[in-house]
Amino acid sequence: MDEPVVFVFENKQNLVTEFSSFFSKLVSQADASFRVALSGGGTPKIWFGDLAANHRDDFDWQKVHLYWGDERCVPPDHSDSNFGMTNSYLLEKIDIPESNVHRIKGELDPKQAAEEYSKELSEFQDESGIPEFDLVILGMGDDGHTASIFPFQIHLWNDPGICVVATHPDSGQKRVSLTGKVINNARAVAFLVTGEAKSEKVEAILNGSEKSTGLPAALVNPVRGELFWFLDKEAAGSLRIDE
Ligand code: 6PG
Repeated sequence: MDEPVVFVFENKQNLVTEFSSFFSKLVSQADASFRVALSGGGTPKIWFGDLAANHRDDFDWQKVHLYWGDERCVPPDHSDSNFGMTNSYLLEKIDIPESNVHRIKGELDPKQAAEEYSKELSEFQDESGIPEFDLVILGMGDDGHTASIFPFQIHLWNDPGICVVATHPDSGQKRVSLTGKVINNARAVAFLVTGEAKSEKVEAILNGSEKSTGLPAALVNPVRGELFWFLDKEAAGSLRIDE
């Protein structure tokens, strides 16, 4: 894999504005369907708001297929639901066919939800039998988790399956998460990371230092695809500012 492309922004708004243009460009360049796995968390929430307010007519939503990189095992209208958050900040405001929205069914038994989602993702597997997303969007937790692979369960990153049932270390909440082989099979992976609390781990990961050992986010290393980091200056620590 080539070196990651790192963008550092003055603030979250500049970051999401630029990411919306980045996303719009990728979608417009796609000739057929564009499959993207979304992330939960606070940073994507801001991006969804920007996308809905300023870019919803920039491209044809008919070719965009929305998936999730992870989901909490709760009903879609639960305050913890990643789908639920995306629905209120974005989906309700854009004209996207319902059949293009492929949520993880958090209301089901976690194992069943993981099995059903794996089956759905197998519809676009590549010759190696691994689903190939056009873009996977990730966040990184303060502890270095990404999607819902947490440090204490880092072995799940290498699970042979397409997705796994994971557990939040503090709440015990069950999650369904993509595995590392799917994330690293994407044509492009983009981290959206903001806030000072992430800076130490961001620097450790980008510098490939010892301190990145044991961090699931450090395992994101697309086999063929490109890796992008969109950071605000707080998360970037001593890295330079682009915008
Ligand atoms: C989730 C996310 C999770 C998130 C990180 C960062 O379901 O919570 O997938 O991995 O990306 O916790 O969240 P922030 O963007 O809020 O820092």
